[in-house]
Amino acid sequence: MNKLVEILGIDLPIIQGGMGNISNAALTASVSNAGGLGTIGAGTMRPEEVEEIIIQTKAMTGRPFAVNVALSVSPHTKEILTLIIKHRVPVVSLSAGNPSPYIPKLKEHGVKIISVVASPKQAIKAEKAGADIIVAEGYEAAGINSSLETTTMTLIPQVADAVSIPIAAAGGIGNGETAVALLLQWLLVRQVSRWGQG
Ligand SMILES: Cc1cc2nc3c(=O)[nH]c(=O)nc-3n(C[C@H](O)[C@H](O)[C@H](O)COP(=O)(O)O)c2cc1C
Repeated sequence: MNKLVEILGIDLPIIQGGMGNISNAALTASVSNAGGLGTIGAGTMRPEEVEEIIIQTKAMTGRPFAVNVALSVSPHTKEILTLIIKHRVPVVSLSAGNPSPYIPKLKEHGVKIISVVASPKQAIKAEKAGADIIVAEGYEAAGINSSLETTTMTLIPQVADAVSIPIAAAGGIGNGETAVALLLQWLLVRQVSRWGQG
């Protein structure tokens, strides 16, 4: 948890999911101002539209925020990533596709990379490619879902075992109760697997 907030430069380990064409400057800035990581959802927007939202967000917050690019959805991935570098957006979240080809250039410019994954295999690939943070998203999540259909409760421990970079859980975690349920499940799974190892 501490590593995640340190890497992202935020106060609380809460990342707002980028909602394509929906999460605008007002939402992004208010999440970031509250100590989490707000996220603009580029969706299918044209680069000029995304640029405008980046400029508006910067005017509304001095805190770190991200732009989400859903790789298989955006027809303008390269242009938007160029804008992210140009405007020194601190974090990019890459989802719905292979992030590997885009990571080196972003990292060269100091952009932190969140990779949204739905399996341990994807998480390992993203870590190898240089991602800083993994968002492991179970099938309960809204938006674009993986055909693997792995649920949050089963996905998170597998991904946590597969990589050493910080991971954030997503999918069906809508309030404090579900967050605590996941935390308890995680602690229990760790405990049981330690017993199993004798
Ligand atoms: C309306 C809507 C649009 C979304 N669009 C995107 C998107 O463009 N890119 C993306 O990575 N995730 C998208 N998501 C998924 C969210 O970013 C987030 O990962 C997901 O909502 C978390 O699971 P939950 O809905 O159970 O909280 C979208 C979610 C919603 C509700």
